[in-house]
Amino acid sequence: MRDAVATLWPEIQWIENPKLREKVAQTWVKALERSPLKPDDLNRIPFTLLVPNCPITFMEHKRCVVHIARQSAEAMQEFMGRSLPINLDNVIAGAILADVGKLLEYEIGPDGKCRQSERGEALRHPFTGVALALECGIPDDICHVIAAHAAEGDLVKRSTEAYIVHHADFMAFLPFKNPKNLKAK
Ligand SMILES: [Fe+2]
Repeated sequence: MRDAVATLWPEIQWIENPKLREKVAQTWVKALERSPLKPDDLNRIPFTLLVPNCPITFMEHKRCVVHIARQSAEAMQEFMGRSLPINLDNVIAGAILADVGKLLEYEIGPDGKCRQSERGEALRHPFTGVALALECGIPDDICHVIAAHAAEGDLVKRSTEAYIVHHADFMAFLPFKNPKNLKAK
C-alpha cells in the first residue's frame, strides 16, 4: 500500500518536514486499508457525485487542488507575506488530506458505479478525514484544514491555510456545475 500511495501522490514529496511527510503518507495508507475502494479506482471514479457524468477523476481533481493551493500560497507569501504568515507545509498537507475521508464515504455499487455508502451518508468525508488524520498523528492545525475545506467549514473561522485549500477545492469544482462550461464531446 505504501508504494500505491507514493504512485498516487508524488506531491507528498513537496512537504518539507520529514515527520509530517510520513504522517500524511500513513494517513493515506490507513484510508486505503479500510476503504472498499482500491488504489486504481481513484484514477477511474469521478471526483464528485454532485455533478452528473462528471468527466474528471478523483485523482485528477485532487492533484489539481494541491497544485492550485501551493501556487496560490506562494503568490500570497510573495505579495502579502509581510503581514500574513502562511505555513506552506500545512497548505500542502491539508490539501493532500482534504478528501482522504472520501475513501470511507464512497463505495462501488453493484452496477460498477461509485456511490455514497451508508457510512458516508452518516459521516461526510471532512469528518472521517479528521478521524483518520488524528489517528495518524496529524497536528490539529492541519486537521482544521480538512475539517473546514468543504461547505461545513463555512460555519468555522478558517485559518489562512484552510481558506486557501477551500478556495482551491472550489475553483476546481464549481465550474463543473455549469454544463455550459464543459467541452462538447
Ligand atoms: Fe472534499
